[in-house]
Amino acid sequence: MNSYIDKLFLEQSKSSGKTEHVIQVPISRITSDFPILGKLWNEYKGMCNYGTNPTEQTILLNNVINRNKYFTEMRSEIMGYPDKRRYDQFEVDCSYRGKTLPKTREPYNDVWRILNGKYIHTVNDKSFPDYYWDKSQMKEMLDLGMEARGNFYYPKGAFREWHTNAYHVNGYRMYFIATGKGDSYFNYINPESNQVVNLKDANEYANIFYVYGTDNWDKMIWHSIYSNTDRFSLGFNIHPEGLKNNLVVSGKVK
Ligand SMILES: [Fe+2]
Repeated sequence: MNSYIDKLFLEQSKSSGKTEHVIQVPISRITSDFPILGKLWNEYKGMCNYGTNPTEQTILLNNVINRNKYFTEMRSEIMGYPDKRRYDQFEVDCSYRGKTLPKTREPYNDVWRILNGKYIHTVNDKSFPDYYWDKSQMKEMLDLGMEARGNFYYPKGAFREWHTNAYHVNGYRMYFIATGKGDSYFNYINPESNQVVNLKDANEYANIFYVYGTDNWDKMIWHSIYSNTDRFSLGFNIHPEGLKNNLVVSGKVK
């Protein structure tokens, strides 16, 4: 999958005439090349219909955000250039303006719970499809050099604060997005121009970018999410070339 995405970046950079740092690709194109991802995406969207109540969840989440002055500040800064030091500190140890913020985890029901400014979907602490698919389907994903990670719901007013993911696994991140009628944004800082780009999500498109480690701060793609609608996302970690062998060694791939 890593080299497939390399090609998508080359293709878009070639057609725009500049180096693209984040690309949007129709999900249908990716799923026609990798049918297992189409199966996964359809099942995910079906699952999102279960236990979801947009009206109630929008009110609950906004109440949580509005009574927390730190979350309110993070949301107000979501579309503009962030104080990188302040947000990096928060990513490192959850401390913000000198105060340690415990993760807000408020359950809505048995599948959705609030995680700071958005909802995360888990069953027995596992996200889809880990709790649902059998081993052979999971292996098919790993054989492609990818893992599905993170099922999120961003109702109107939801956000993910500025961050880099620099302390996690490096490699491409790909997010399949389903949105309602309003607008939602993947904001990022172009590492060359150091300017914020407010990239509007497109329904049934994947947002793809690269997560670098702390040894590559000059290339880092700072990013954040803001939603004015109902935005569901399914994320994938793409293993850089060569990592698959490490997984075999560590026993993750049989
Ligand atoms: Fe991220």
